[in-house]
Amino acid sequence: MTQIPASSDAPNMGRRQFMNLLTFGTATGIALGALYPVVKYFIPPSSGGAGSGVTAKDKLGKPIAASEFLENHKPGDRKLSQGLKGDPTYIIVKDDGELADFGLNAICTHLGCVVPWKASANKFVCPCHGSQYNENGKVVRGPAPRSLALVHTQTNADGNVSFTQWEETDFRTNEKPWWT
Ligand code: FES
Repeated sequence: MTQIPASSDAPNMGRRQFMNLLTFGTATGIALGALYPVVKYFIPPSSGGAGSGVTAKDKLGKPIAASEFLENHKPGDRKLSQGLKGDPTYIIVKDDGELADFGLNAICTHLGCVVPWKASANKFVCPCHGSQYNENGKVVRGPAPRSLALVHTQTNADGNVSFTQWEETDFRTNEKPWWT
């Protein structure tokens, strides 16, 4: 029987490990390369830069024209529309009949129910666990920990109501906004 002599010609453990590293390192590289587009595929596409703002839409997804909105709503009204990131957002008509320059994200800061406006009480009252917010969306009763998020409201070049992100100080609490 022939036996391979334990000569120094056979690669030692260190060399074998080096070859392992080379082979499996390349294989891992190929695997990662193939995985990258797959992972990217499952991340939802962005809805376009939020910095430029979005047009407010009604429940059918139609843009809301500011003049038409003001014709159909009276001072003090707060009406839901689709706002930034598709969140339900209140458009507010001021007492002088003009659009308020801020809107309110209607998602309750407790667990996320949409909070209805209760005109008779001049408050937003959450039906889920009873949190209340004043007419500007400031929390006045828990369990909700924070006020409703603000957005800027304006009329864009097409005459439609549009929203942009509110990054300035919260005028209701004089604090930094919690939602940015
Ligand atoms: S979700 Fe509004 S009070 Fe709980």
